[in-house]
Amino acid sequence: MESNSKKTTGLTRPLHDLHPPAGDLLSEVLTGLTAPQKTLPCKYFYDQKGSQLFDKICELAEYYPTRTEISILDQSAREISDKVGPKITLIELGSGSSSKTENLLQKIDEVQRYVPIDISREHLMEASERIAGRFPHIEVWPICADMNEEVSLPDDIDTTSKRVLFFPGSTVGNFEHESQIAFLSRMKRLCANVGDQLLIGIDLIKDIKTLEAAYNDAEGVTSEFNLNILQRINTELGADFKIDHFIHRAVFNKVKSRIEMHLVSVTDQVVQIQEEKFQFDSNESICTEYSHKFTIDGFVQMAQPIGWELEQAWTDKDQLFAVLLLRLGEL
Ligand code: AVI
Repeated sequence: MESNSKKTTGLTRPLHDLHPPAGDLLSEVLTGLTAPQKTLPCKYFYDQKGSQLFDKICELAEYYPTRTEISILDQSAREISDKVGPKITLIELGSGSSSKTENLLQKIDEVQRYVPIDISREHLMEASERIAGRFPHIEVWPICADMNEEVSLPDDIDTTSKRVLFFPGSTVGNFEHESQIAFLSRMKRLCANVGDQLLIGIDLIKDIKTLEAAYNDAEGVTSEFNLNILQRINTELGADFKIDHFIHRAVFNKVKSRIEMHLVSVTDQVVQIQEEKFQFDSNESICTEYSHKFTIDGFVQMAQPIGWELEQAWTDKDQLFAVLLLRLGEL
C-alpha cells in the first residue's frame, strides 16, 4: 500500500564517468598570453561566479538569444515532437542544468531515454535526479565527459532506438570554424543509424546594433563576466592582474561574422603569473571569446559534407535565432 502511494521516481542509471581531466588552466593561460594576439580560452569563464554571471546575462533585456530560443522551442515543440518521433534517446551535449530540456520534455512525447553529458559532475547529477523525479517514465543515463573531446556512450546502450542529439544555446558559435566542423563530425560519431538527428540552436546574423548591444549591456553584467576571468586567474594561479586596469570590449567583426570579446589594457603594465611576467601596452587586448553568428544556409552548407541534411528550421518572427533539425543522411 505504502509503496503505491509513494511518488514514483524515474530510473537514473549510475553515472557513466569518463573522468574528463580538469583543463590545465596554468599552461593554457601561459600559452594564450604568449601569443602575438594574447588570448584566454572562453571555457575558463565558467567558475562558480562566472556561471552565475552567465545566468544573469541570459535574463538581460539586450541578450535576446536565450529567451528567443526558448520561445522557438516552446512554439515548435509539437512539430519537433512529430519530426523526431516516439521512443527516442535524447542526448544533450553540455547539459548543465538541463533547463531547456526540462521544458522540451514536457512537450515532446515518449522520450524513452535522456542522456545528459556534462563536464561538471555536480550539475550533471543534480539535473539528472531532478529530471528523473519529474519524468518517471524516462530513463536518465548521465555521462560525465568533456563535450569538446570524443565521447563514448555506455556499451549497453541500444543501437535500435533513434538518437536525437540536442545542442541548444548557439554554443557552437563559440568554437572556431574548424572546431565547429570537428564538433559536427563528433556528433555524427555519436549516432547509430542513418536518420538519427541533431537539434541545434544557432544565433543568426542581424544588424550590428542589436548584436553589439547583446554583448555590451547597460548594466555591465557582460563586462563583469569578461573581467571575472582575470579574477579567476588571480585566485587560482596567484597572478596579480589589477582588474580595474582592464576594460571590457565587444565588437562585431563583419568579415568573420562574429562578436569578438576582448579585455583591453588601459595602461602600460606588467602582470606576473607565477614565474612568468607579461608586458601589456596601453590599449593592447586579450581576446577572450568569439561568438559566431550564422545564416541558416551557411550553417547547412558547413554541415552537409559531414552528412547532416536540413530537415526543418524554426525561427522567430524577427529572425533573431534559429533552431535547426538536421538528419544524418549517411554514416
Ligand atoms: C555560451 N555562449 C553561447 C554565449 C554567447 O553568446 O556566445 C556566451 C556569452 N558571452 C558573452 N555573453 C554571452
